[in-house]
Amino acid sequence: MDNIVYEIELAARGAGEIVRNAHGLDLGIENKEGRANFVTKYDTMVQDYLVNRLGKILPDARFLGEESGLDQFQSGADKGYLFVIDPIDGTTNFIHNMHPHVVSIGLFKDGVPWAGVVYAPATDELFSAQKGQGAYENGCRIHSSTRPLSENIMLVGSSGFSLEAYSISQKMAFEFQSKCQGIRSLGSSEYSLCMIASGRVGGYTEMRLGLWDFAAGSVILEEAGGTVTDFYRRPLTYREGCGIVALCKGIAQDPQMPDTGAYMTLWSQA
Ligand code: IPD
Ligand code: CA
Ligand code: CA
Repeated sequence: MDNIVYEIELAARGAGEIVRNAHGLDLGIENKEGRANFVTKYDTMVQDYLVNRLGKILPDARFLGEESGLDQFQSGADKGYLFVIDPIDGTTNFIHNMHPHVVSIGLFKDGVPWAGVVYAPATDELFSAQKGQGAYENGCRIHSSTRPLSENIMLVGSSGFSLEAYSISQKMAFEFQSKCQGIRSLGSSEYSLCMIASGRVGGYTEMRLGLWDFAAGSVILEEAGGTVTDFYRRPLTYREGCGIVALCKGIAQDPQMPDTGAYMTLWSQA
């Protein structure tokens, strides 16, 4: 089984090579549905590459991915293996030649995350985990922080898809700011989860994400001792996208942690 994760790591590196070599070329940028939602020809190219390569590792596996019409959890996908792919997470950063942008591959077994690989080609950082086997960054074991909120940096995703959600996120960021050492927004949800897993930051929230935005990072973070829930701090269903609250060990138990559910309720009433 360890071999499967290693093969997925090689596939992620292969995809990362395509992303790295794209800089300076025509990216073929197009608008997708909604606000500030872009796709480049490299998003589709990398997803096609991964479906082909990962299909050779586990021929019976199904696929769910952000591009090419694969974005729904199909009936029957809760049995056996399912790859959940975001070919480039952080496309807007990629377009502007900014870090982070990552290749992200989650592998579900019987409907729940079983392994995850996240590769950042610009910095050659590779994060991976398999259920029950711990989380790793470039082969070294990683652990999430045990420090409380007051001794950590927090990531608040900008929720740029909706100005209303953005405005409520900023209110929540204000409350975090008053209780922690600073707020950042990185532009890649999967990389944000890996930053908590590696102990660099304490937590991350974003009001709405696709399943592919947290499929790999959630298993990496949980194997590093952190937690990933919805805004009401309930377990995720892993059947569709949602808002997420990802926390290191120290903050998950911290009474100073804001009531994120109250902000989600505010958005649902807006
Ligand atoms: C986006 C990134 C970003 C988050 C957006 C996502 P994409 O994914 O993860 O951090 O704020 O909501 O859609 O479009 O770059 O794959
Ligand atoms: Ca994404
Ligand atoms: Ca993407």
